[in-house]
Amino acid sequence: MRLSRYLAHSGVSSRRRAEALIRAGRVTVGGEVVTDPARDVDENSGVAFDGTPVAPVAETVVIAVNKPKGVVSTARDTHGRPTVVDLVGARRRLYPVGRLDADTTGLILLTDDGELANRLTHPRYGVPKTYRAVVAHPPVRDEALERLRAGIELDDGPTQPAEVRRLGPDTVELTIREGRKRQVRRMLEAVGHPVRRLERVRFGPLRLDLAEGEHRQLTKREVELLRARPRRRPSSPRRRRSSGS
Ligand code: URA
Repeated sequence: MRLSRYLAHSGVSSRRRAEALIRAGRVTVGGEVVTDPARDVDENSGVAFDGTPVAPVAETVVIAVNKPKGVVSTARDTHGRPTVVDLVGARRRLYPVGRLDADTTGLILLTDDGELANRLTHPRYGVPKTYRAVVAHPPVRDEALERLRAGIELDDGPTQPAEVRRLGPDTVELTIREGRKRQVRRMLEAVGHPVRRLERVRFGPLRLDLAEGEHRQLTKREVELLRARPRRRPSSPRRRRSSGS
């Protein structure tokens, strides 16, 4: 297959960016720099990027997307808005792993593996998700952080304690292991800081490493890491009614 496609399929970058990386001389085939994105290669060609051999991707397809604002994370939208699945344009049928609100940006996964998707979203597995929020009414005081750390009483029950860091007077980073509808927004609103901007920057072992709107296929190793998350949750939710992301 074409070298640029091979790199994209190997999780190095999107195909468009792969072409630029190849032209920049960062890709070797059999030890020699190749600047032609159309060069025909396969797994035995010895393709390397910045000197590192390129790993074949997993058979299970998992794609990481940096979802832009206004794009919905359902497979289809009844209002005709663009979906994350449209963004990727895969030939295979892929499903979003959990949800992000239309106005939230950041890391969302798509996969063709229903069991993996369930494992990553079911509350019993407690996969941590980290969000960066820019909020109204700064500064965010210690008292608000402590309340978030203790757990917040929402109208569908109390949340588990969140891990929280203040990154600036109006910016906090929150890690939660649940995925209730608009949970982060509701938690921050409850402590007097409605969210102005929300971005998911981590999902389990994966960190957001894509520009907005970009996507890439996860490597075999990354999919193994996703599957290897512990099968327990650190603490039980006391009461839950709805489930979201
Ligand atoms: N919490 C929210 O409030 N919104 C999201 O999109 C994800 C988590």
